[in-house]
Amino acid sequence: MQGLAGKVVIITGAGSGLGRESAIELAKEGSRIAVADVNLAGAQETVATITAAGGDAFALEADVSKSASVQKMIAGVLDHYGTIDILVNNAGVVGQLLPVHEVSEESWDFVQGVDMKGVFLCSKYAIPTMLAKGKGVIINIASVSGFLASATGVEYTAAKHGVTGLTKQLAYDYGHKGIRSIAIGPGVIETPLTSEWTCEGGPFHELTMEAPAGRYGRAIDVARLVVFLASDEADFMHGHTIPIDGGSIIR
Ligand SMILES: NC(=O)c1ccc[n+]([C@@H]2O[C@H](COP(=O)([O-])OP(=O)(O)OC[C@H]3O[C@@H](n4cnc5c(N)ncnc54)[C@H](O)[C@@H]3O)[C@@H](O)[C@H]2O)c1
Repeated sequence: MQGLAGKVVIITGAGSGLGRESAIELAKEGSRIAVADVNLAGAQETVATITAAGGDAFALEADVSKSASVQKMIAGVLDHYGTIDILVNNAGVVGQLLPVHEVSEESWDFVQGVDMKGVFLCSKYAIPTMLAKGKGVIINIASVSGFLASATGVEYTAAKHGVTGLTKQLAYDYGHKGIRSIAIGPGVIETPLTSEWTCEGGPFHELTMEAPAGRYGRAIDVARLVVFLASDEADFMHGHTIPIDGGSIIR
């Protein structure tokens, strides 16, 4: 893919699942990766995998829901690599998977904090560097839960709808200033987040198996889309949330 060699990429939540796979794939394209995660050990494992294959990466501990932590993460990346070209807002959590009246306020605040405020904070503090260069890419990992209601619960559905809106606003505010913003809406992908769902009898099993692809997604499916959207080849793509779901939400 064009335009990725040497680029500095921050990926949040890259200590596991989709973030880790995206970090590995972007490193293969020659990008330099800041692997950020609230779980430092997970981030370090990702870095070890990348560097063992000859790539360039370093690990940072960061909680995307906390302003001070995000500002420290951005400062750490600028200190280490001197710039930021691409931000992948991937860190995410799910809530209680209960109907609205049974969901605690704590769960609501926790999920909004990570899944939505985290995207806002990381974008807010990465954008000044991109504005100064007149170039940048922001990729937000939303979900098909950014399009519809499902068994993922109200905290997650509301937060991911928020991420699709945030992505449009980022595109609207900064597209003309050289910063391209775009989101991805994965269906059910096999990662640690969904390990209890991706089995027969799981909440999305029928929907997934009856969909055109007839299988759960793999982290690599999403990671290759991240690579494409981060590259210059996606230059005409702004503001949308691109579904990657095996066709599960076409009806
Ligand atoms: N797996 C799926 O089926 C699926 C589907 C749609 C969307 N998504 C989204 O993809 C993203 C990645 O999910 P995944 O499946 O790889 O999950 P995962 O649980 O495997 O990885 C998520 C990572 O985010 C990190 N994280 C959690 N809270 C954080 C915080 N406050 N600050 C920094 N890092 C934090 C975790 O430590 C973990 O390493 C999430 O935003 C999720 O909502 C996943």
